[in-house]
Amino acid sequence: MSQPTFSSVLDALRSVVDPVSGKDLVRLGWIRELQVSDGRVRFTLWLEDPTHVFASEAPEACRQALKEALGETVQVDVSSDSEMIGLGADLSIDGQEAGSAPGDGIANIIAVASGKGGVGKSTVASNLAVSLAQQGYDVGLVDVDIYGPSVPTMFGVENAKPRVNEHRRILPVEKYGVKLLSMGFLVDQDKAVIWRGPMVTSAVRQFLGDTEWGTLDFLIMDLPPGTGDIQLTIVQTVPINGAVIVSTPQRVALADARKGVSMFEQVNVPVLGIVENMAYFTPPELPENKYYLFGQGGARALAEELDVPFLGELPLVQAIRENADDGTPIVTDSSSSASNLFSGISEGLVRSVEERNAVRPATRKIDILHGK
Ligand SMILES: Nc1ncnc2c1ncn2[C@@H]1O[C@H](COP(=O)(O)OP(=O)(O)O)[C@@H](O)[C@H]1O
Ligand SMILES: [Mg+2]
Repeated sequence: MSQPTFSSVLDALRSVVDPVSGKDLVRLGWIRELQVSDGRVRFTLWLEDPTHVFASEAPEACRQALKEALGETVQVDVSSDSEMIGLGADLSIDGQEAGSAPGDGIANIIAVASGKGGVGKSTVASNLAVSLAQQGYDVGLVDVDIYGPSVPTMFGVENAKPRVNEHRRILPVEKYGVKLLSMGFLVDQDKAVIWRGPMVTSAVRQFLGDTEWGTLDFLIMDLPPGTGDIQLTIVQTVPINGAVIVSTPQRVALADARKGVSMFEQVNVPVLGIVENMAYFTPPELPENKYYLFGQGGARALAEELDVPFLGELPLVQAIRENADDGTPIVTDSSSSASNLFSGISEGLVRSVEERNAVRPATRKIDILHGK
């Protein structure tokens, strides 16, 4: 047997499934602080709830899975760590009881950001959310772009008004298997434009803390475009696991994408990947042809230079725009080629999230509310 590698270890651990949720331990984010070197595997098994029925068996199940996949000689050090408090409870505002059941929580919050507006940030956020839901994940999408919320249009729910339950918690609107909440549902657009930083921050906190998200694998957050104070404040307010940066191929757009990456680095939010949108033009009547109108390979080169994953390129195609305007994200049309491209990007994103989570310590939920 060959030496274990980081990815062979993660693959082996994906075969260990928590009988309660039916999800594997990598997906659940239970594997943390993973180190693989010289035939030795070390990690922390992070259990939110130490009384979980699988808690006592999980370490041995992991050892078995690793030995089966990687050979009897592999050395495995597992330590356990846990915490009792759920995300919902901690994010509650004004000490209000969150009312979430044990185990409820948001596993990963992922911000979708861009250096400038109009590059397709909301299009990418919406399609990624639906694509992840199609792959069986529990997904929410929160649109905190107060100046140009477009999620209501892209999902065809412009007139939806989220309801509030008896615990005074907001119930997200559901469409295409995604739980949605948008500034556009709640804020009068003419008034939003004069909002200032602190108002945005408190609205964002309320969106996360006072909403009945239930259990989510991913909460995708459509940030306002740009890399200014508002964006910086939002990413510092919310326990974001990582960011996806959307760019178009032009040099000016790439320069702004670079600023985006450095903003996230400043606040220690890992960049999970760069997506190049409108990378090339494909006319409907010549679906095999690719015209690189704005130059080729810029975002991929930027990703390499900055040592962040390149998640993929998306063409400029009329159907993406039409479907967005019609409230049916392109991934809902499984016959479209763009739909496959989005699936590839969302799979890459999941891998990137899992790899990041596996090396990092568990996010202490308590840190979320009381600052770092
Ligand atoms: N790959 C694409 N092909 C065609 N149209 C696109 C593509 N990506 C985005 N668009 C369109 O471009 C416009 C801006 O996209 P949007 O996602 O709203 O950008 P942002 O959120 O960055 O401001 C929208 O009309 C959208 O439908
Ligand atoms: Mg937008």
